[in-house]
Amino acid sequence: MSEYDVLVAAAKQARENAHAPFSGFRVGAALRAQSGRVFTGCNVENATLGLTICAERVAIFKAISEGERGFDAIAVVADTDTLTPPCGPCRQIIWEFCGDVPVVLSNLKGKVEVTRSGGLLPKPFDSSFL
Ligand code: THU
Repeated sequence: MSEYDVLVAAAKQARENAHAPFSGFRVGAALRAQSGRVFTGCNVENATLGLTICAERVAIFKAISEGERGFDAIAVVADTDTLTPPCGPCRQIIWEFCGDVPVVLSNLKGKVEVTRSGGLLPKPFDSSFL
């Protein structure tokens, strides 16, 4: 039993809704707000491919669009033995909206690794430079 079990379960459930007809690579994410609310996302692909959006950004943008601010963890679930980490653009967005938070990677077999957004994006560019 880990403090992230509920978050990982939510990400796994969200993955069921993935729209990934082009890659077949299904991803789920779950974002925990400091308020305790959990926002989920899945990847949503598009025929242009370039308009695809990752599960992590769907979860974050859902939360932001509902007025939530302040987050303390995000979980990502995919069906890979080597746990799937967020892509570069998602690292930037996680950093901007969540800061240095635990990023909980998991797969369908229950393997779990906890890393941090600060470690995934060294020397980040953010609003402190503007
Ligand atoms: N994808 C995510 O949703 N999150 C990740 O962390 C890695 C990649 C999606 C994007 C695309 O739909 C598919 O996985 C293959 O890249």
